[in-house]
Amino acid sequence: MSSKIKEHWEKVFTSKTEDEVSWFQPYPKTSVEFLELFNLPIDANIIDIGGGDSHLVDVLIEKGYSNIYVLDISENALNRAKQRLGDEANKVHWIVSDVTEFKPGVRFDYWHDRAAFHFLTTKENIDKYVGIAEKAINKNAYLILGTFSEQGPDKCSGLEVKQYSEASMSHRFEKSFKRIKCITEKHLTPFNTTQDFLFCSFQKK
Ligand SMILES: C[S@@+](CC[C@H](N)C(=O)[O-])C[C@H]1O[C@@H](n2cnc3c(N)ncnc32)[C@H](O)[C@@H]1O
Repeated sequence: MSSKIKEHWEKVFTSKTEDEVSWFQPYPKTSVEFLELFNLPIDANIIDIGGGDSHLVDVLIEKGYSNIYVLDISENALNRAKQRLGDEANKVHWIVSDVTEFKPGVRFDYWHDRAAFHFLTTKENIDKYVGIAEKAINKNAYLILGTFSEQGPDKCSGLEVKQYSEASMSHRFEKSFKRIKCITEKHLTPFNTTQDFLFCSFQKK
Protein backbone atom coordinates (compact mmCIF):
# COMPACT_ATOMS: atom_id res chain seq x y z
CA MET A 1 0.00 0.00 0.00
CA SER A 2 1.09 3.57 -0.50
CA SER A 3 3.59 5.06 1.96
CA LYS A 4 1.34 8.14 1.81
CA ILE A 5 -1.14 6.22 3.98
CA LYS A 6 1.53 5.54 6.58
CA GLU A 7 2.63 9.20 6.48
CA HIS A 8 -0.97 10.24 6.98
CA TRP A 9 -1.36 8.15 10.13
CA GLU A 10 2.05 9.01 11.54
CA LYS A 11 1.10 12.68 11.25
CA VAL A 12 -2.33 12.18 12.85
CA PHE A 13 -0.76 10.58 15.91
CA THR A 14 1.74 13.41 16.40
CA SER A 15 -0.45 16.39 15.54
CA LYS A 16 -3.59 15.49 17.51
CA THR A 17 -4.11 14.45 21.11
CA GLU A 18 -6.12 11.31 21.79
CA ASP A 19 -9.35 13.19 22.41
CA GLU A 20 -8.95 15.36 19.32
CA VAL A 21 -9.79 12.43 17.03
CA SER A 22 -13.34 11.31 16.30
CA TRP A 23 -12.76 7.63 17.13
CA PHE A 24 -11.52 8.22 20.69
CA GLN A 25 -13.17 6.19 23.44
CA PRO A 26 -12.03 6.45 27.04
CA TYR A 27 -13.37 2.91 27.49
CA PRO A 28 -14.00 0.55 24.53
CA LYS A 29 -17.31 -0.76 25.92
CA THR A 30 -18.61 -2.64 22.87
CA SER A 31 -15.23 -4.29 22.22
CA VAL A 32 -15.04 -5.43 25.85
CA GLU A 33 -18.61 -6.78 25.73
CA PHE A 34 -17.70 -8.93 22.71
CA LEU A 35 -14.54 -10.14 24.45
CA GLU A 36 -16.52 -11.17 27.51
CA LEU A 37 -18.94 -13.22 25.37
CA PHE A 38 -16.28 -15.72 24.41
CA ASN A 39 -14.57 -16.70 27.69
CA LEU A 40 -11.11 -16.91 26.17
CA PRO A 41 -8.39 -18.77 28.05
CA ILE A 42 -5.91 -16.45 29.74
CA ASP A 43 -3.12 -17.54 27.37
CA ALA A 44 -5.18 -16.98 24.19
CA ASN A 45 -3.35 -15.18 21.37
CA ILE A 46 -5.27 -11.92 21.06
CA ILE A 47 -4.59 -9.24 18.45
CA ASP A 48 -5.98 -5.75 18.01
CA ILE A 49 -5.60 -4.84 14.34
CA GLY A 50 -5.15 -1.11 13.70
CA GLY A 51 -5.24 -0.78 17.46
CA GLY A 52 -3.62 2.65 17.35
CA ASP A 53 -3.56 4.07 20.86
CA SER A 54 -6.90 2.50 21.79
CA HIS A 55 -7.50 1.70 25.46
CA LEU A 56 -8.55 -1.87 24.61
CA VAL A 57 -5.02 -3.03 25.34
CA ASP A 58 -5.26 -1.58 28.87
CA VAL A 59 -8.35 -3.72 29.48
CA LEU A 60 -6.67 -6.85 28.07
CA ILE A 61 -3.68 -6.36 30.40
CA GLU A 62 -5.97 -5.65 33.34
CA LYS A 63 -7.86 -8.89 32.67
CA GLY A 64 -4.55 -10.76 32.84
CA TYR A 65 -4.24 -11.98 29.24
CA SER A 66 -0.68 -13.10 28.64
CA ASN A 67 -0.40 -13.10 24.83
CA ILE A 68 -1.54 -9.69 23.62
CA TYR A 69 -0.57 -8.24 20.23
CA VAL A 70 -1.33 -4.77 18.89
CA LEU A 71 -0.66 -4.03 15.22
CA ASP A 72 -0.75 -0.62 13.58
CA ILE A 73 0.67 1.06 10.50
CA SER A 74 1.68 4.01 12.70
CA GLU A 75 4.65 3.67 15.00
CA ASN A 76 3.70 6.98 16.63
CA ALA A 77 0.30 5.55 17.59
CA LEU A 78 1.88 2.52 19.24
CA ASN A 79 4.46 4.70 21.00
CA ARG A 80 1.64 6.74 22.45
CA ALA A 81 -0.07 3.63 23.81
CA LYS A 82 3.28 2.40 25.20
CA GLN A 83 3.87 5.71 26.93
CA ARG A 84 0.43 5.61 28.53
CA LEU A 85 1.00 2.06 29.78
CA GLY A 86 4.49 2.60 31.18
CA ASP A 87 6.08 -0.69 32.37
CA GLU A 88 2.88 -2.58 31.53
CA ALA A 89 3.69 -2.02 27.85
CA ASN A 90 6.32 -4.76 28.15
CA LYS A 91 3.48 -7.28 28.44
CA VAL A 92 2.41 -6.57 24.85
CA HIS A 93 3.82 -7.55 21.44
CA TRP A 94 3.80 -4.33 19.40
CA ILE A 95 3.81 -4.73 15.61
CA VAL A 96 4.32 -1.82 13.21
CA SER A 97 2.93 -3.04 9.91
CA ASP A 98 0.42 -2.32 7.22
CA VAL A 99 -2.17 -5.01 7.89
CA THR A 100 -2.24 -5.90 4.19
CA GLU A 101 1.45 -6.82 4.47
CA PHE A 102 1.23 -8.54 7.85
CA LYS A 103 3.14 -11.83 8.14
CA PRO A 104 2.00 -13.28 11.44
CA GLY A 105 4.45 -15.42 13.38
CA VAL A 106 1.67 -17.07 15.41
CA ARG A 107 -1.97 -17.99 14.93
CA PHE A 108 -4.63 -16.05 16.75
CA ASP A 109 -7.57 -17.09 18.94
CA TYR A 110 -9.11 -13.63 18.86
CA TRP A 111 -8.72 -10.99 16.14
CA HIS A 112 -10.27 -7.60 16.92
CA ASP A 113 -10.48 -4.65 14.54
CA ARG A 114 -12.33 -1.44 15.31
CA ALA A 115 -12.27 1.11 12.52
CA ALA A 116 -9.21 -0.10 10.59
CA PHE A 117 -10.68 -2.59 8.08
CA HIS A 118 -13.06 0.03 6.70
CA PHE A 119 -10.12 2.10 5.40
CA LEU A 120 -9.45 -0.64 2.84
CA THR A 121 -11.41 0.48 -0.16
CA THR A 122 -9.95 -1.50 -3.06
CA LYS A 123 -10.86 -5.11 -3.83
CA GLU A 124 -7.15 -5.94 -3.87
CA ASN A 125 -6.54 -4.69 -0.31
CA ILE A 126 -9.77 -6.13 1.06
CA ASP A 127 -8.89 -9.53 -0.45
CA LYS A 128 -5.41 -9.32 1.07
CA TYR A 129 -6.86 -8.58 4.53
CA VAL A 130 -9.37 -11.41 4.32
CA GLY A 131 -6.67 -13.82 3.08
CA ILE A 132 -4.31 -12.89 5.93
CA ALA A 133 -7.09 -13.22 8.53
CA GLU A 134 -8.11 -16.61 7.09
CA LYS A 135 -4.58 -17.95 7.48
CA ALA A 136 -3.79 -16.29 10.81
CA ILE A 137 -6.94 -17.17 12.76
CA ASN A 138 -7.22 -20.63 14.33
CA LYS A 139 -10.11 -22.97 13.54
CA ASN A 140 -13.09 -22.14 15.80
CA ALA A 141 -11.39 -18.89 16.87
CA TYR A 142 -13.00 -15.45 16.71
CA LEU A 143 -12.91 -12.40 14.47
CA ILE A 144 -14.57 -9.18 15.68
CA LEU A 145 -14.95 -6.36 13.18
CA GLY A 146 -16.23 -2.86 13.86
CA THR A 147 -16.76 -0.56 10.86
CA PHE A 148 -18.97 2.36 9.95
CA SER A 149 -22.43 1.10 9.05
CA GLU A 150 -24.34 2.18 5.95
CA GLN A 151 -25.74 5.04 8.08
CA GLY A 152 -22.24 6.00 9.23
CA PRO A 153 -19.82 8.57 7.76
CA ASP A 154 -18.22 7.93 4.37
CA LYS A 155 -14.91 9.48 5.47
CA CYS A 156 -12.77 9.35 8.57
CA SER A 157 -9.62 11.32 9.30
CA GLY A 158 -9.99 12.83 5.81
CA LEU A 159 -9.77 9.39 4.17
CA GLU A 160 -12.46 7.57 2.27
CA VAL A 161 -13.91 4.56 4.08
CA LYS A 162 -16.11 1.64 3.08
CA GLN A 163 -19.37 1.33 4.96
CA TYR A 164 -20.80 -2.11 5.70
CA SER A 165 -24.15 -3.74 6.32
CA GLU A 166 -24.50 -7.01 8.17
CA ALA A 167 -24.93 -8.73 4.81
CA SER A 168 -22.01 -7.08 3.00
CA MET A 169 -19.61 -7.64 5.88
CA SER A 170 -20.64 -11.27 6.25
CA HIS A 171 -20.32 -11.74 2.50
CA ARG A 172 -16.63 -10.68 2.59
CA PHE A 173 -15.76 -13.33 5.16
CA GLU A 174 -18.29 -16.11 4.47
CA LYS A 175 -15.86 -18.47 2.75
CA SER A 176 -14.01 -19.19 6.00
CA PHE A 177 -16.07 -17.62 8.80
CA LYS A 178 -19.52 -18.18 10.25
CA ARG A 179 -21.29 -15.07 11.51
CA ILE A 180 -22.21 -15.20 15.19
CA LYS A 181 -23.69 -11.86 16.14
CA CYS A 182 -23.92 -8.28 14.84
CA ILE A 183 -24.87 -5.13 16.71
CA THR A 184 -25.02 -1.46 15.80
CA GLU A 185 -23.53 1.22 18.00
CA LYS A 186 -23.85 4.98 18.03
CA HIS A 187 -20.37 6.15 18.91
CA LEU A 188 -20.29 9.49 20.67
CA THR A 189 -17.27 11.41 19.41
CA PRO A 190 -15.32 13.86 21.62
CA PHE A 191 -17.05 16.60 19.58
CA ASN A 192 -20.50 15.48 20.77
CA THR A 193 -21.54 14.11 17.40
CA THR A 194 -22.49 10.48 16.77
CA GLN A 195 -21.18 7.94 14.27
CA ASP A 196 -23.06 4.77 13.35
CA PHE A 197 -20.93 1.66 13.70
CA LEU A 198 -21.63 -1.96 12.90
CA PHE A 199 -19.84 -4.65 14.92
CA CYS A 200 -19.99 -8.31 13.90
CA SER A 201 -18.40 -11.36 15.44
CA PHE A 202 -17.44 -14.38 13.34
CA GLN A 203 -16.09 -17.84 14.07
CA LYS A 204 -13.51 -19.51 11.85
CA LYS A 205 -14.88 -22.61 10.17
C1 LIG B 1 -9.84 5.25 13.22
S1 LIG B 1 -8.37 4.67 13.93
C2 LIG B 1 -8.95 3.45 15.09
C3 LIG B 1 -7.92 3.13 16.14
C4 LIG B 1 -8.36 2.09 17.16
N1 LIG B 1 -8.75 0.83 16.56
C5 LIG B 1 -9.46 2.62 18.04
O1 LIG B 1 -10.54 2.04 18.04
O2 LIG B 1 -9.19 3.62 18.74
C6 LIG B 1 -7.71 3.67 12.61
C7 LIG B 1 -6.39 3.02 12.96
O3 LIG B 1 -6.04 2.11 11.93
C8 LIG B 1 -4.68 2.29 11.61
N2 LIG B 1 -4.54 1.88 10.20
C9 LIG B 1 -5.08 2.47 9.12
N3 LIG B 1 -4.76 1.80 7.99
C10 LIG B 1 -4.01 0.73 8.40
C11 LIG B 1 -3.38 -0.33 7.71
N4 LIG B 1 -3.46 -0.46 6.37
N5 LIG B 1 -2.68 -1.24 8.43
C12 LIG B 1 -2.59 -1.13 9.78
N6 LIG B 1 -3.16 -0.14 10.48
C13 LIG B 1 -3.88 0.78 9.80
C14 LIG B 1 -4.41 3.75 11.88
O4 LIG B 1 -3.05 4.04 12.06
C15 LIG B 1 -5.24 3.99 13.12
O5 LIG B 1 -4.54 3.71 14.29
